Amino acid sequence: MNPFFLTPHTPAAYFCDRKKETEDIVNYLENGSNVTLISPRRYGKTGLIYHYFDTIAARRKDVEMYYADIYATSGPDDFIAVLAEAISKTLKKETLIKSFLKTLGSIRPVFSQDPLNGAPQLSFRFQSDSERRYSLKALFDFLEHRPKKVIVAIDEFQQIRQYEGLPMEALLRTYIQPLTNVQFIFSGSRKHVMADMFTAENNPFYESASLYSLDKINRSVYARFITDKFAEAKKQITADAVDFILDWTCVHTFYTQFLCNRVFQNTKKEATIMDVLNVADALLYENHEAFLERRALLTPKQWKFLIATAKEGEVSEPTSGAFLQKHKIGAPSSVARLLASLTDKELLLETKTTTGSTYRVYNVFFSRWLERQ
Ligand SMILES: Nc1ncnc2c1ncn2[C@@H]1O[C@H](COP(=O)(O)OP(=O)(O)O)[C@@H](O)[C@H]1O
Ligand SMILES: [Mg+2]
Repeated sequence: MNPFFLTPHTPAAYFCDRKKETEDIVNYLENGSNVTLISPRRYGKTGLIYHYFDTIAARRKDVEMYYADIYATSGPDDFIAVLAEAISKTLKKETLIKSFLKTLGSIRPVFSQDPLNGAPQLSFRFQSDSERRYSLKALFDFLEHRPKKVIVAIDEFQQIRQYEGLPMEALLRTYIQPLTNVQFIFSGSRKHVMADMFTAENNPFYESASLYSLDKINRSVYARFITDKFAEAKKQITADAVDFILDWTCVHTFYTQFLCNRVFQNTKKEATIMDVLNVADALLYENHEAFLERRALLTPKQWKFLIATAKEGEVSEPTSGAFLQKHKIGAPSSVARLLASLTDKELLLETKTTTGSTYRVYNVFFSRWLERQ
């Protein structure tokens, strides 16, 4: 078995660190505060939520946990369906699910099961917004009256800002606020949207949760983890090779896991820096077509800007003459627009600092590929 998992729900033995983060979340929730978890994509928010769930499940029998990922939802109807599915999934038993569905009012959803994994699938056919409101409220009422304490994680929560129709942010806040038995983890990758939802005074969710920024995993802890996982499988990896991996992936969790997974797969006895280089080359080669296709979706200037950023690794003064001339990008006047559109497409990752912002290419493998162009 490969010890480097690529799915968010990772068994504890193969989950690297996040001890403090897990306990912080435990503490916030135990002290009555909801938690808003924020980090760039693929740092490990979803993994951490599952890890927190597993941790609580092992410690306490009086807590019930629900996980809803609303990334793929496009409106209130989807939201209601995904939340109802999350509840059905945790309830497991068909009789329980049936009695749960009865509480949703006259709009009984069509129930089916995913043919591949058996997960419950629900679809609602609402005729009016009042029916939607009723069902949404009924979902939270159901959770409020569970015999156990309830934790609900809503992943990629910023997605509700994309909805049309019902004013979901205000509505959710109204239904959630009076609950005493239910607490929430809101998680999201779009930092400015999440921060706006939870810290802007005129927004419904203002100050309704503690903001928690998830950072990268500590580099030396990650290095230890990688070395140990090889050793536990009776393989070895040199210290240089581990260092190289963490440099190459910038310690970004998903990319680190992915590269380690491949290096492990290709190692019989010992992995050296040369082995890692070969695997990294192969990875970029595999993605070549897909990366190349992105070019068609961008203007030549945007493309050039991405390559320049990748070659620099990190850019803190994108409007400086030095940077623009070195990479022949042109006038600084167009840079603000370039940055805005590339950040919005999630091709660039903006990190706010005390003095301004720095920019990197968001996808680490794409960045490594671009820098060779
Ligand atoms: N602490 C961890 N230890 C090992 N692998 C992890 C850890 N956290 C995340 N991962 C891996 O990284 C991938 C990306 O993490 P994920 O939780 O999906 O990120 P996010 O939700 O922030 O986008 C996961 O699929 C998982 O394989
Ligand atoms: Mg996630």
